[in-house]
Amino acid sequence: MISRVLRREFLDFFEKKGHKVVPSSSLLPLDTSVLLTTAGMQQFTPYLSNTKNVLEDFGTRHLTSIQKCFRTLDIEEVGDDTHHTFFEMLGNWSIGLDQDKGYFKQGAIEIALDFLGNILGLEKNKFWFTIFKGEAGIPKDKESLEIWQEQGISQERIIEFGIKDNFWGPTADTGPCGPCSEIHYDRGPQYGCGNQDCGPNCERCKRFVELWNLVFMEYNKKKDGCFSKLPQSNVDTGIGFERLLAVLENKPSAYETDLFLPVIQKIEVLSAKNYNSQKPNFRIISDHIRGAVFLAAEGIFPSNTNQGYILRRILRRAMRIGKLINLPRNFLIPLSQETIKIYQEFYPEHKTKQADILSIIQKEETKFEKTLEQGLKEFEKLACKGEIDGSMAFHLYNTYGFPLEMTEEMAVEKKLKVDKKSFEQAFIKHQEISRIGATKKFGGTGAEQIKDEEQKIAVIKLHTATHLLYYALREALKDNVRQMGCDINSERLRFDFSHSVKLTQDEIKKVEQIVNQRIKQDLEVEKQEMECGEAIKSGALAFFREKYPERVFVYTIRDKKNKDWVSKEICAGPHVKRTSELGCFKIIKEQSSSAGIRRIKAILI
Ligand code: GLY
Repeated sequence: MISRVLRREFLDFFEKKGHKVVPSSSLLPLDTSVLLTTAGMQQFTPYLSNTKNVLEDFGTRHLTSIQKCFRTLDIEEVGDDTHHTFFEMLGNWSIGLDQDKGYFKQGAIEIALDFLGNILGLEKNKFWFTIFKGEAGIPKDKESLEIWQEQGISQERIIEFGIKDNFWGPTADTGPCGPCSEIHYDRGPQYGCGNQDCGPNCERCKRFVELWNLVFMEYNKKKDGCFSKLPQSNVDTGIGFERLLAVLENKPSAYETDLFLPVIQKIEVLSAKNYNSQKPNFRIISDHIRGAVFLAAEGIFPSNTNQGYILRRILRRAMRIGKLINLPRNFLIPLSQETIKIYQEFYPEHKTKQADILSIIQKEETKFEKTLEQGLKEFEKLACKGEIDGSMAFHLYNTYGFPLEMTEEMAVEKKLKVDKKSFEQAFIKHQEISRIGATKKFGGTGAEQIKDEEQKIAVIKLHTATHLLYYALREALKDNVRQMGCDINSERLRFDFSHSVKLTQDEIKKVEQIVNQRIKQDLEVEKQEMECGEAIKSGALAFFREKYPERVFVYTIRDKKNKDWVSKEICAGPHVKRTSELGCFKIIKEQSSSAGIRRIKAILI
């Protein structure tokens, strides 16, 4: 079954069962405490926890979707049969059910067996099942056990696991979660480790593929790590699209299906090498290019921060691996074009944004091409000494653009280790030196010195104004506005943010009003030093989060009267002490920066 047919079968099946098909949400999630969307349920979180009403917004409590997801956690595993950075999740939801209105465990289990067995024709005798055994004060899921048995499944095919394997969520530190019951598929002994105790969740082999995860979402994880009951029960399910397709096609992995084959074949032609002789390298390259195409399609640009850093990291990693298999220069573009061809039917925006996507990738390739070769030589020199300490890794990062993770990966290949802590120290020291350098620049005498001082103060003011602008945009547009870039000089600030449509005159006015109102209130700007993790938990926005050292500064603009804060951002500063120092804020331009990204230029008068 090819991917197009599987997509259609899945959505048609659930539509016929009364589910509303909801389009995939963006890879940039609404919940800004996580960088990228990692699960199908993320866009439904407010409905699952009943802070939004599912009937009001969708007209039904039964939903289905094919969701774009991206995970970097297992990036080192990419190259094997089952791991990917970008992937798609098929899912169905029954939200906020009560006895008559929605299905729960019984319904979810029956529907899943119907789809896998009757629609896809998978053999029932190859299925294994898991249930939650009860742990951490949450009881064993006896109900699911009984339902599976009622469906004719024998006891020895139903295995119990604890929190680690059979409890799902939340995707952030807090939020809806619950015990789950899974359907695994036995691919046969040829995929196995041969051990007596081999079975679902075997840590040695991939014989048993987890196909479908049925989450019975009844809990909410709180800040203190404890669970409370959600106000309602929900069903949340997830099937990894790639692995289901591989099983249906009876292929070892998705790389041998139509989702990847044209790209793999193109790599064979360009490198004059055979896929089977270099499987992991071919797979990493094709996975990372697919991931890059999807990130670029969201309007993300390679950078040293946040999502941009992830994009940079996978593109640069693909380029390094490309060298290992002799891919010629500029290979990213033909492979990206193949990837777009594969996905443009289901994601038409890939076609319409093709030029933007390719230009983003091309620019990064050109940029890194210049330093990659030299950096690799430098790395070899350093590795010969038998050590890559943090300052050397920083040198590779700062001079040759090697992401730390890439240096670490190359070090592992040489059985060496990189000390992350001393990398961070070198990073901070460098920032410190740059700051002193910048301060020194403001030296000089007389009028020149005064002018420089004035410019310095103007930059500081605009810096604080930028934090207020970010806050105001989120307030005024009620959209998941994300900072995508920022540039400040003594004349003006320039702020790029994710938003798909042009701002109206009213919206621009509203943003100005919100900023000016906060300026007038003479709010205090407070600076605190804390652990990066603690800062994120406290709700601080972190444009530079991925590359932040362990300890960071958080700037909070406080509204003491209301015992609340208006803006909280991780930021190196400096900032003004009180907002009244800013004067009057004015937007002078609002324009498109690139696909899905708007740009505002503003001044203080
Ligand atoms: N939310 C269920 C899953 O992603 O497996």
